[in-house]
Amino acid sequence: MKKPAAQYFFGTFMHTPALDQLEILHDTLISVDAAGTIASVLTPDEPGYRESLNAAKTHRHFTSVNDNGFYLPGLVDTHIHAPQWPQLRKALHLPLESWLMDCTFPLESKYQNNAFATAMYTSLVDTLLANGTTSAVYFATVHRRATEILAELCVEKGQRAWVGRVAMDDQQQCPDYYRDATTDQGLRDSDDSVNTIRQLAGNESQRVKPILTPRFIPSCTDEMLAGLGALAKQHSCSIQTHCSESDWQHHYVIDRTGLRDTEALDKFGLLTRTTVLAHANFINHSDMKIIKNHNAGISHCPLSNQYFAGCVFPLREALNLGIHVGLGTDISGGPGASQFESCRHAISASRMLESGVNANLEVHKRGVTDSQISYIEAFYLATTGGGVMLDEPIGLFKEGYAFDALHIDTTAIDSNLMFFPEIDSHEDLFQKTLYAATRADIAAVWVNGAVVSCQRGI
Ligand code: GUN
Ligand code: FE
Repeated sequence: MKKPAAQYFFGTFMHTPALDQLEILHDTLISVDAAGTIASVLTPDEPGYRESLNAAKTHRHFTSVNDNGFYLPGLVDTHIHAPQWPQLRKALHLPLESWLMDCTFPLESKYQNNAFATAMYTSLVDTLLANGTTSAVYFATVHRRATEILAELCVEKGQRAWVGRVAMDDQQQCPDYYRDATTDQGLRDSDDSVNTIRQLAGNESQRVKPILTPRFIPSCTDEMLAGLGALAKQHSCSIQTHCSESDWQHHYVIDRTGLRDTEALDKFGLLTRTTVLAHANFINHSDMKIIKNHNAGISHCPLSNQYFAGCVFPLREALNLGIHVGLGTDISGGPGASQFESCRHAISASRMLESGVNANLEVHKRGVTDSQISYIEAFYLATTGGGVMLDEPIGLFKEGYAFDALHIDTTAIDSNLMFFPEIDSHEDLFQKTLYAATRADIAAVWVNGAVVSCQRGI
């Protein structure tokens, strides 16, 4: 039996039910129940439409955007380093290993100060919500309390989130001032963090979830990696880590373990149905098969990869194999905070991979054929694909899915969309939004049916 509607939304809804499919639902009525779940999606050709619409219009909670725009599903950012927020757009000239040692670890160590953590995380969550990121997968820091502060802020501000205390205990790769005191202490802190986040006041629906977070193999001992694999099993908890991001990381893992990154993560029990592997640029076909066998996922971070990876992630090959892929900003490895930007960079990176970049090579030797992705595929990855990877009913306007949505306001005066209704179709509008939208175009944002950010009245 359907739950009674607590509110109704009316207008044009655009979403991507499949990788290469854009569906545009005109004059559609969506009813959302008290828990924020979509109870029904009614299009004009369905029986009872007219009566339901007339009734909905008299409801206290009826929102229509038919005169000024359309709805998109909320954006899912599958890889964010929350503590690096104040470093966004800085220090991008360095290679990964010195960027970590010289800039990032010193910054992350400051989160032992709870007031600093509160200030930075407040700014981060507010800004991401205003940019349409309704779901966020966060690396926090090693600090238990600061991790909890981030989770509390997500609960309070209404963002859907996965929040991970970062585990890093390797004495060679982590500085004395910023690492787990001992392996056992680190495992205890990760264990406690899982329980604390699950039990947070106001988090009864588990909209904010813990995620076990070995930073990456170089910063963790074998004992830590195996211990976290066991904890993930014990708690049925998701996992995130970095995998084969750069030449340096990829070869470091081979030198230390004798295994490729993916193989080593598998050995430690860290590849599961809800594992998020950030980057995975250097994985080969056999790694992909291992990832696919576990139905684990990859967070593709195209802009960050331009700075730190030294190559382009073989996205099309992963998609052809049916691997779950989402998009990530990798704040602050990537200098963008918007998942619309991640879409744009995923498209352009795929185009560069296909064409190649060195004009001194003959055209047929320059690139990798069949690599480019379309704007529809990019949007799928930033919404539906992220939801599939996280095994969460988000990213679509579909019965049983959470109502996580953006109102794109086509009348915003400070917009760069350049929408001309005289000649632009709705698909053109979708395309222009994907290529040009900024927070100025996002009038309102909902998570689970609740308004979490609103620039102009609704
Ligand atoms: N590898 C280990 N830590 C990090 C990080 O903070 N950012 C990126 N991009 N890669 C990492
Ligand atoms: Fe990262």
